[in-house]
Amino acid sequence: GVTKKKNVLICDKVDSLMLDELKKREFDVNYEPEIASMKLKDSIEKYDIVILRSRTKLTQDILEKAVNLKIIARAGIGVDNIDTKYAKSRNIQVITAAGSSTHSVAELNVALAVSLARNLIPLDINSKNGIWIKDTGFELSGKTSGIIGFGRIGLSTAKILKSIGMEILAYDIFENQEAIKEVGGHFVSMNELLSNSDFIFILVTLSDSSSNIIGEEQMKMVKSGSFLINTSRSEVIDGRVLLNYLESGRIKGYATDVLWNEPPTEEWEKTLISKPNVIVTPHIGAQTVEAQKRVAEYTLNNLFAKISEMGI
Ligand code: MLT
Repeated sequence: GVTKKKNVLICDKVDSLMLDELKKREFDVNYEPEIASMKLKDSIEKYDIVILRSRTKLTQDILEKAVNLKIIARAGIGVDNIDTKYAKSRNIQVITAAGSSTHSVAELNVALAVSLARNLIPLDINSKNGIWIKDTGFELSGKTSGIIGFGRIGLSTAKILKSIGMEILAYDIFENQEAIKEVGGHFVSMNELLSNSDFIFILVTLSDSSSNIIGEEQMKMVKSGSFLINTSRSEVIDGRVLLNYLESGRIKGYATDVLWNEPPTEEWEKTLISKPNVIVTPHIGAQTVEAQKRVAEYTLNNLFAKISEMGI
């Protein structure tokens, strides 16, 4: 018989490459990069495939309406915005674009670390306002980096930091010995990492087991005067505790690409990001020309492979 065209919904902003490739094939594509969750809930029943990034939340109440859904394609890495347990119970397959944004996120990590150490953002604002002050910063060279979550992005970041002249410590529940050897680093306990690192990078995947892994107990262990860089997910840290430590100066600076609410809504969250020793970027880790091309390629390759594997 004639196979019906598969209905695809793209919920978030993706590279045009993805749209062009899908349209060339047997797909009916609906591109709604700003779709609100109410509208998504009302219209999801007609789709076989949903492609999304981190803005869209595929919660159970939305997935319950997705009676025809067969594949969720995450055009990115983290699946924390998808109720994967419920999807599994319904036999809905979840695919990602793992590995697509590694270099982009690693480069951003280093940029944020240098920006904190040299106070770049406030100095830029000063200069533009006619205030010409030589603020004294710190070198990264000779210091210790602690990387929480030593996957692809962790390794890629560590390679750059190593070449700058940093020592590398890492913490991960899975200790990839081969990877750590590449940068002459060491796996240590979370407490050892926190108490010995001058720059702490949070690069862990958000899951039930990594949610709030940095709370009061851990923050107490952080070496005084260290800098914290987060390009993972905000939920890994207890935000109110972090705010206290930033205000006391125990943590010298915080640079983040992620927030608890994107954009921020809570008062404490707004207070946190308004601090001069806090740098915030709007979830741009994977937002480069190169990464978004790769995201499109990897997502589609994995999607087409899954379609043929499922024979749909
Ligand atoms: C990811 O997990 O890949 C990030 O959230 C980036 C994104 O999709 O924008």
